[in-house]
Amino acid sequence: MDAVDDDTRAAWAIASRKYTDEYDALLEEARTVELLPVEVEALRPVVQGADVVHPMSGHGLDDLALARLGARSVHGLDYSEAPVASAQRRADELGLPCRYTRATMPDSGLDDACADLVYTGKGALIWVPDLDAFLAEVRRLLRPGGRFYVYEAHPLVPLWAWDADEIRVRPDRGYFERSHVNDTFPGNGAVERQHTLAELVMACLASGFELEHLEEHPDQFWLPAGIDAAAWDGRVPNAFSLLARLP
Ligand SMILES: C[S@@+](CC[C@H](N)C(=O)[O-])C[C@H]1O[C@@H](n2cnc3c(N)ncnc32)[C@H](O)[C@@H]1O
Repeated sequence: MDAVDDDTRAAWAIASRKYTDEYDALLEEARTVELLPVEVEALRPVVQGADVVHPMSGHGLDDLALARLGARSVHGLDYSEAPVASAQRRADELGLPCRYTRATMPDSGLDDACADLVYTGKGALIWVPDLDAFLAEVRRLLRPGGRFYVYEAHPLVPLWAWDADEIRVRPDRGYFERSHVNDTFPGNGAVERQHTLAELVMACLASGFELEHLEEHPDQFWLPAGIDAAAWDGRVPNAFSLLARLP
C-alpha cells in the first residue's frame, strides 16, 4: 500500500465507526433487508447453496440478504475494525451464516477455491488502485465455474454535479482521471480510484472471466440526505452491474 492508500485506510478507520454508532438502526434494517431488485434477478439463479465471499463488506447488510436469498455461507472481508465487529454481531443476533474477518484486499487471506460467488460493490471498487491484482485474487478464491458479481457506482458518477436545476459536469473532474479526492464521504480527503467501464470489462476478460451480464442503471444507490440532484432524474447512468463467470 502506498501513502495515498494509507490515508484512505485512516479515513475509513474513522468513517466506519458509524457502523457501530448506528448499530441499532442497522439491526432494524437488517431484519428485513433485501438486495436491490436487479441484484436479486441476477443472483437468485446462482446463489442457492453457494459459498460467497464479499470483499469490502462494510455494514454487511448485503451479506444478510445473500444468506436469505439462499447462500450457504457468506464471508465478509473488510480492513476496518468497526464494520467487521458490528457486522458479525448483527449476523449472530439474526442467526444467519455470515462471518467476518479483517483483511486488506487484494490479500484476502482465504484459501484457494473457497467460493462459488464473489460479490462486491456499492462503494468497493473505488478503493481499488490495481484492478488486475484485485481480480487475480477474486479468481484465486473462486472454484471452477464460480462467478464474480459487482453492483457499483457508474464511473461517470464522480463527474456529476449535484445541481438541482440541470445536469452539469464538474469542471474539476474527468472520466479518464485515475483518481479524485472525495469531498462528500467519508471525508478527510479520502482518495477514490477511477476505472472506466471499459477498463473493468477488459480487466475481467484478461483475468479469464467470461462476461455474462453488464447493465447500466439510472438509479443512484446512495442518496445523501437533503440533496435532489438533476443527475439522478433517470437521464444519465448512476450505477452498473456486472456478472462474470470462470470457465
Ligand atoms: C463504502 S464501504 C462499502 C461497502 C459495503 N458495500 C457497504 O455498503 O457497507 C467500503 C468499505 O471498504 C473497506 N475497504 C476499503 N478498502 C479496502 C481494502 N483494500 N481491503 C479491505 N477493505 C477495504 C472500508 O473499510 C469500508 O468499510
